[in-house]
Amino acid sequence: MGFEYDVCIIGTGRVGLPLGLSFMDVGLKATGVDVDPALREAVCGGQMPFHEPGYDELVARGTFQIHGSPEICARSKAVVVTVGTPLHTHIETDLRQIQSVLEGLAPHLRPGQLLCLRSTVAPGTTTFVRKWIERHTDLRVGDTLGLAFCPERIAEGKAREELRTLPQIVGTEDDLSAELAVALFAPLAPEILPTDYVSAELVKLFNNIARYVHFALANQFALVADTFGANIHQIRHMANHKYPRSYIAGPGLTAGTCLRKDFGMINEWSPYPDMLLSAWKMNEYIPAFLVQHLGKRTELHDKVVAILGYTFKMDTDDTRDSLAPKLYRYVQRQLPEAIRVSDHHLPATIVDDRNGELRNWDVDEALNGADCVFIATNHTGYNEALRRLAERQPDTWVADIWNVTRADLMFYKAGALLDA
Ligand SMILES: NC(=O)c1ccc[n+]([C@@H]2O[C@H](COP(=O)([O-])OP(=O)(O)OC[C@H]3O[C@@H](n4cnc5c(N)ncnc54)[C@H](O)[C@@H]3O)[C@@H](O)[C@H]2O)c1
Repeated sequence: MGFEYDVCIIGTGRVGLPLGLSFMDVGLKATGVDVDPALREAVCGGQMPFHEPGYDELVARGTFQIHGSPEICARSKAVVVTVGTPLHTHIETDLRQIQSVLEGLAPHLRPGQLLCLRSTVAPGTTTFVRKWIERHTDLRVGDTLGLAFCPERIAEGKAREELRTLPQIVGTEDDLSAELAVALFAPLAPEILPTDYVSAELVKLFNNIARYVHFALANQFALVADTFGANIHQIRHMANHKYPRSYIAGPGLTAGTCLRKDFGMINEWSPYPDMLLSAWKMNEYIPAFLVQHLGKRTELHDKVVAILGYTFKMDTDDTRDSLAPKLYRYVQRQLPEAIRVSDHHLPATIVDDRNGELRNWDVDEALNGADCVFIATNHTGYNEALRRLAERQPDTWVADIWNVTRADLMFYKAGALLDA
């Protein structure tokens, strides 16, 4: 049977939309499905709904259309699922978005198609999907339908480049699925690494968790160094300088939807405290660490405190699972006179489900007259802002876990930057 589209992406968010546009860019006929009407309207009207560099022109062409109903999937050779896969508030994978996709999609699946899971999933999920499809449709994986798990490993902000440069893991368990999945990704990825479902699921989780644990160690070193009155940024540079083993990462507010949740997908079946739980605790402690350790140097009570950055990582507009809102609440508990949040990647009013509506200050206005500053995100531009602050208000205290100034200072009075 001939299909009108090569690929239909279900869930055209931060992963699905760049993927669909990149498929289009390499000559595939691509379309999408999403339940979010505002997102559909933006993309169909030629606008990127979020910040992801390199895609504005492709979206503006208006050729990538997003539909509200999965009916369109019947007309596509491949269907790729990139919906969210969060944890419940417990340590428990939340499969509701995947299940809702399957329920909507089942009547529209056709013989000869490939169903490709791309959301990050817990081990065993692709097998669950195979059994679900075979229970609820007449299709048989490996006979009349292809099924693959092909994880997304891009970093937000780098999708355009990394979709063309990262090797693509392709998890399948029969020849038909392998053939269809390799054919889908061959025009995009420079290299295909074929494997089975669970290995593909674990590759993705291990990649993310390794990063999360690596940063937790960096954060623990920052805590230990400051407890001994030593400077982690300087120590780290010396430790890494021309030393070929054990690279130490920089400390920071380690968070974001992917890194934080993925450990839960691995250890939800184990009752034991383990390294992943410790890493989670370490990374979650960092906002408290910053408030406690700046608090040893200066009082926050009745002071004006500025927080620069509210997103979970540099130069993005994504606040999901950011630790900056948690830092905000810890500062709030000190009863300062005022807290001013500034993040030039976010709108004039920051709407946060826990912290309410916050005014988003211009960075220099936020710093003007501030007694203390926390750098919550390492956005481009904060180095210059802190150096302007040093000239104007040398006595303002700064907590810069990210080392945005590259001056190797963590807790310091802004004036120290005049010599650094
Ligand atoms: N964001 C990243 O950098 C990144 C990187 C690698 C992997 N991942 C993984 O990719 C997956 C998607 O993440 P994301 O950041 O793109 O999430 P997202 O929330 O930005 O996008 C998910 C989209 O799916 C849509 N959706 C939900 N249910 C739907 C349904 N039934 N039918 C159609 N659309 C539906 C939502 O409206 C949303 O637009 C997650 O599993 C995540 O862990 C994310």
